[in-house]
Amino acid sequence: MAESPTGPVIGWEKQTPVPDGYQFNDYLHVQNGHLYMEDLDLAALFLGGESPLGGKPFASPMEVVYLPLIRRQIERMCGYFAEVSAEIGYEGRFFYAYASKANAAEEVVRTTLGAGAHHEMSSPIDVDIALYMRRRGLLPPDRMVIANGFKPANTLYDDRLIQLRREHEHIIPVLEDLAEIAPLVASGLQFDVGLRQKSYGAHQNLAEMDAANSRFGLSMDDLWKAAEYVDAAPNLTLRLYHAMVGSQITDRQAFVDWLKPPMEVYARLRQRYPSLHIFDFGGGMPVAMTLDFDFDYRAFVRLLLTTLQEVCARYNVPVPDVMGEFGRYTTAEHSAHLFKVIMEKDNQSSLPWYLIDGSIMSSFPDSWALGEHFIVLPLNHLDKPFQQVQLGGMTCDSDDVYPPKKSQSPLYMPVDTDELYLGFFAIGAYQEMLGGVRGSKHCVLPEAVELIVDRDESGYLFTVLPGQSEQDVLVNLGYREAARSLDATRAPSGT
Ligand SMILES: Cc1ncc(COP(=O)(O)O)c(C=O)c1O
Repeated sequence: MAESPTGPVIGWEKQTPVPDGYQFNDYLHVQNGHLYMEDLDLAALFLGGESPLGGKPFASPMEVVYLPLIRRQIERMCGYFAEVSAEIGYEGRFFYAYASKANAAEEVVRTTLGAGAHHEMSSPIDVDIALYMRRRGLLPPDRMVIANGFKPANTLYDDRLIQLRREHEHIIPVLEDLAEIAPLVASGLQFDVGLRQKSYGAHQNLAEMDAANSRFGLSMDDLWKAAEYVDAAPNLTLRLYHAMVGSQITDRQAFVDWLKPPMEVYARLRQRYPSLHIFDFGGGMPVAMTLDFDFDYRAFVRLLLTTLQEVCARYNVPVPDVMGEFGRYTTAEHSAHLFKVIMEKDNQSSLPWYLIDGSIMSSFPDSWALGEHFIVLPLNHLDKPFQQVQLGGMTCDSDDVYPPKKSQSPLYMPVDTDELYLGFFAIGAYQEMLGGVRGSKHCVLPEAVELIVDRDESGYLFTVLPGQSEQDVLVNLGYREAARSLDATRAPSGT
């Protein structure tokens, strides 16, 4: 019998086959024993057959990047704000910004900009990316670029931001520290600026918020000083107030309660500085990384906007335009990592080991570092019996396992391991950036081939980025001679 689950639901939790047509969530369903991502048969990528890519099978492992899910997320959130604003008569606008730290890949940033998102960033290389997008015409002139992160004088970031401002008008540096004001003033360029409140973590009131042990943002005293300095500077205009209270916050009442003290500060600032008009609540928007996720976005938006109305009415100031910086929410679901089960090993363990042809811990570092859960499902044999298993990666590391070590969530896989493939889903935010793109990985495992999938009116569009070859990995570690002497006819991994 299946054990009763007590952790997040990460996959199929029964020994019986998955019924045909079963929908795991709104983008994963089962048909003829195969798992489909919308109407893409994932197993067919490896087994051939009815794949829109044609019959030529790929080798595993593979990362699938499915861009339509990014567009869907942005459209949905903008839809919730539009509907709720109309319902309650909210007079401010909504600005969706993509927090690019979640995934800075070219195809991701291009897709978010194409879907109308403003752009949030935090490092000098991010500025290069924004400049590149601007010069290619993908970052339109009226789109806002929100520059978070530390940027005191004489840093590359500060320097690059000033360069970007010469080419793009709507850039808003958000001040993390008083030391960031002088270089903006000295640039002589007109800048709209934001102030970031020290606000990270749970708090009940202003005093608790201000006492938080956080390196981000300005304390209450510094915030008011910064507002004064900005107001006095002839080339700076205060436009935005930023307060971020956490990440993956699944309790909507707590989310808005933690934002209440910042709303009060916004209203007081707005009384004194009428140019201020954007309340930016930063990141924190949760997204489904497991199958039991339940968050009512519309109800959150309603609570956020009605609370802003109430606070602003109390201070007799107009309601602000609202901005969110959506990182995890934008990108978590668009990407999956697919592996083959290459061995079943009993080893007299409590549960059989299914060993996969890649690394769990270097592909999804949050699974071992934070005990984070992701959705894991087989791509084929879903119409056959299942058993409870544990997954092991190819590194020699005892942490390279799934479910995470302290997890209470059972994981079931088909008993039949013949040509069995499986996928980790909802891994598109932060995992690739934390694990590193290219470079050398744990136990020198090469990086998987990447399949970028998009669609337009004419159907699917596919781009294949080759994985790392053995030579790539060797050269990267300084073994140039060894790489040269490898048999040149050896096929690169994943192709
Ligand atoms: C300033 C800022 N904005 C936005 C985000 C994105 O947060 P999330 O991924 O929760 O949307 C982060 C994440 O660390 C952040 O530091």
